Amino acid sequence: MKNGHAEKHRVAVIGSGNWGSVASRLIASNTAKLPAFHDEVRMWVFEETLPTGEKLSESINQAHENCKYLPGIKLGTNVIAVPDLESAVKDADMLVFVTPHQFVEGICKKLVGKLRPGAEAISLIKGMEVKMEGPCMISKLITDTLGINCCVLMGANIANEIAVEKFSEATIGYREDKHAANRWAKLFSTSYFLVAVVEDIEGVELCGTLKNVVAIAAGLVDGLDMGNNTKAAIMRIGLREMRAFSKLLFPSVRDNTFFESCGVADLITTCPFHGSWWQKQESGRSLCKKRRQKVF
Ligand SMILES: NC(=O)c1ccc[n+]([C@@H]2O[C@H](COP(=O)([O-])OP(=O)(O)OC[C@H]3O[C@@H](n4cnc5c(N)ncnc54)[C@H](O)[C@@H]3O)[C@@H](O)[C@H]2O)c1
Repeated sequence: MKNGHAEKHRVAVIGSGNWGSVASRLIASNTAKLPAFHDEVRMWVFEETLPTGEKLSESINQAHENCKYLPGIKLGTNVIAVPDLESAVKDADMLVFVTPHQFVEGICKKLVGKLRPGAEAISLIKGMEVKMEGPCMISKLITDTLGINCCVLMGANIANEIAVEKFSEATIGYREDKHAANRWAKLFSTSYFLVAVVEDIEGVELCGTLKNVVAIAAGLVDGLDMGNNTKAAIMRIGLREMRAFSKLLFPSVRDNTFFESCGVADLITTCPFHGSWWQKQESGRSLCKKRRQKVF
């Protein structure tokens, strides 16, 4: 509190790949208009040199576009690419983690002792660390390494679709602190990005992780041309197994979580159906017609 006014929240996004760039764009559209947040969104960039010789971070700040991971989409002038991790998080009290999962531990270790007191995190990362002691959720890794509260945001969220503002839903999972979860929901929600909040952090995070295992099975069904009925069966049984496995790891996981965007919806979007039986018949018919036209 300064002069009786609550201080504005400062957001830093740690990661600038495809989803990191889209998340920054989404957040920046809200921080620019919501008084509770500072306009500027700092986005940490794992620095790369582009084929032109230019640094990726410089290119982003000049063009307001990530030409490597999200070409053709303007991020907003209030998204500032920062190649130095410590500078990116300086003064930020809301940290969005959105890197591939294998880099999180190293990033967190670099951030120890560098965060503003009271900082909170949210993880958009799908995946988990499997250690000798057993599986470790990414949100727990962040909390344990940095000593900060960490929510998760998962869902049927193909970044390129959200980038062009196609309607999507997402689920925020939290433990105990509903107030913090609602603040994250406010930061992410737009007319085309509808966010629900549930008190089941492990359930939400495990949905985002385990659906990829089912998607591999669904891909095998596609590869073997086994058909849509088999694929639907794999997805249904897979969803049930996701729930059983999640409950085995964390008995607190709730059934309803699997009906949120992070559950069944993310599973469907990760195992897309490539045209229905009717579409295939139609395209087959028009192909025959074209061939007939050619032959006759
Ligand atoms: N792309 C999507 O549609 C989508 C949707 C939902 C969730 N996610 C999740 O978001 C996370 C990020 O995925 P993405 O698609 O944005 O990644 P991406 O594949 O587009 O980008 C990879 C990123 O990793 C960075 N990188 C490379 N080496 C690094 C290193 N040594 N240290 C740190 N960073 C390094 C790259 O610079 C780049 O920013 C993943 O956990 C993914 O599961 C992605």
